[in-house]
Amino acid sequence: MVITIDGYAASGKSSAAIGLANALQFRLLNTGWMYRAAGMALRDRGFDLVPETRDREGIRDLFAEFHFDMPPDKVIFGGVDFTDRIMCEGAGALASLVGTFAEVREKLKAEQRRLAIGEDIICEGRDQGTAVFPEARVKFFFWASPEVRAARRMNQLVHADYDTVLKQIRDRDTQDESRSLDPLMAAPDAIRCDTSELSEAEVLRQMLAVVNARRG
Ligand code: DC
Repeated sequence: MVITIDGYAASGKSSAAIGLANALQFRLLNTGWMYRAAGMALRDRGFDLVPETRDREGIRDLFAEFHFDMPPDKVIFGGVDFTDRIMCEGAGALASLVGTFAEVREKLKAEQRRLAIGEDIICEGRDQGTAVFPEARVKFFFWASPEVRAARRMNQLVHADYDTVLKQIRDRDTQDESRSLDPLMAAPDAIRCDTSELSEAEVLRQMLAVVNARRG
């Protein structure tokens, strides 16, 4: 069974996905990590990442040889462990950029479907319920106001300026919502979750109620 959780950066979807995976004993696939690792892999090899001038065939050829391995809490791509390098906002912005490239999306969507075969799995990202697993039995779509999300990010960062963090969040929203390929949006059959005023425990309680009702 596949459960999808899509939504905005810092909307609480990762914590919810971890909580739900633990509660249900499902595997967890963080597809944002996959986009982050893909961006890093391209940057490490010196690829030009300017959308208009990028080497589409070169990226396709490189990625044809690569596979993802996603053991718990790790992201390995093309045999390289990227886990320690992908947590910063720079890696998130890079992921959002390469997420606009058709050849990157094709590869990652195929890998996500491969990794989910035969699994009870929670797939978290931007396009899981819309483009990758449109047939998923349960879909969630997370949102919270940009101000709440910026405040949450501030709590995770040591040195940060609120206005800068808020701008980064708004810029990422715009890029993720406005790309022509698989833009960030709720699937028509997704359950919308505004987490602005909900605790993690309450979000998890509501999700479990939905999943148990659908499974039952
Ligand atoms: O969830 P995250 O912040 O780690 O994702 C980083 C970026 O990766 C996000 O801003 C857009 C891109 N992404 C995507 O395009 N599709 C996904 N399924 C997951 C992430």
